Amino acid sequence: MNSLFLNTLNGKYEKRPPIWFMRQAGRVLPSYQKLRKNYSFRELMNNKHLASKVTGLPITDIGVDAAILFSDILIVPESLGLNLNFTNNGPKFTNPLDTNNFHYDDLVFNPNLLSHVYNNIVQIKEDLVKTPLIGFCGGPLTTFLFMFRGNEHIKDFNHIINFFYKEPKKCLDIIELLTEASIVYARNQVKSGIDCFQLFETYCGIIPEQLYTDFILPFSIKILSEVRALGCKTIFFPKNYNFGLRHITHDMCDYVSIDWQIDLNFARSILDPKVGVQGNMDPRLFYSSKKDIDSYLNSLINFGQKNHNWIFNTGHGFMPGIDVEKVVFVVDWLKNANWKR
Ligand code: CP3
Repeated sequence: MNSLFLNTLNGKYEKRPPIWFMRQAGRVLPSYQKLRKNYSFRELMNNKHLASKVTGLPITDIGVDAAILFSDILIVPESLGLNLNFTNNGPKFTNPLDTNNFHYDDLVFNPNLLSHVYNNIVQIKEDLVKTPLIGFCGGPLTTFLFMFRGNEHIKDFNHIINFFYKEPKKCLDIIELLTEASIVYARNQVKSGIDCFQLFETYCGIIPEQLYTDFILPFSIKILSEVRALGCKTIFFPKNYNFGLRHITHDMCDYVSIDWQIDLNFARSILDPKVGVQGNMDPRLFYSSKKDIDSYLNSLINFGQKNHNWIFNTGHGFMPGIDVEKVVFVVDWLKNANWKR
């Protein structure tokens, strides 16, 4: 497969940065919303032909250079015995972890509950022959936090962070279990045919940088290194890690996805030069005028000229109500720009 995305990941100099978006495989595309009228999110995820169709939509509809597997990070806790519901208010577990009544012993990993994903990957690789496929799983902290989500009235994770300070050992035991399950899951994704793997640590910045670095990062690195050991390229997305980015080195991952809070040039300057960067357009910029978007994109030319190890992406996922026409505008702009390379 001759792919701009894979060539860039492999260190080859290309004429322009490759492009894809977090949350591109659902949510904002009209073609996805049309499918959602007839099928539940779960049906789309569990049927290999439907999952493959949704995975391919952003390729045809917006012209991105890579596809991301249509699935969700929360199916890993489901494989540990938590019953997951995707409601209109987001995902919830019917038997979540409870800080008042901790039932760690109930968690037992059933790897078979993840096997449909591997069949989906095989199907996607059959259907999208020319497109690189990104697999993923949630970062250990992010997935752990969601395991407590069952109560509609609790919108943040503050009580769980309090619990982490009170009972670090109990929490780290669960994070270790999650890591083991994530490794099995991620390795099987590679064996099924993914071309690249992204670890979504969306809630990295919910605890102090030092705490993440000392207690959680080793688990994230473990997942990433097991994927790399199979020869698959890795992207780590530690959202809001800020200055913590300086701890990330090329022996941990191939690329780091930068969130929208930090300046891209600054992030680049504190990162190991051997690690590539991905990012970091603020997805809310899609709510502004094309003129403002154009001026933002122009500001990237200098960065793109100097940095060949850069993948264009947003600094977090697409938000509801984003106009797909503006997304296409951005993709076309980036493809047609003179990157002076
Ligand atoms: O990027 C993609 O579109 C690929 C597939 C993907 C989904 N979820 C599908 C999905 C990926 C990579 C995820 C990751 C994910 N899921 C994260 C980490 C990254 C991030 O965006 O922060 C998290 C925290 C989750 C958990 C989750 N799943 C939430 C909080 C929600 C509800 C809010 C939302 O963002 O839509 C989901 C549901 C979900 N996951 C949808 C999709 C397409 C929407 C389902 C629908 O159609 O109703």
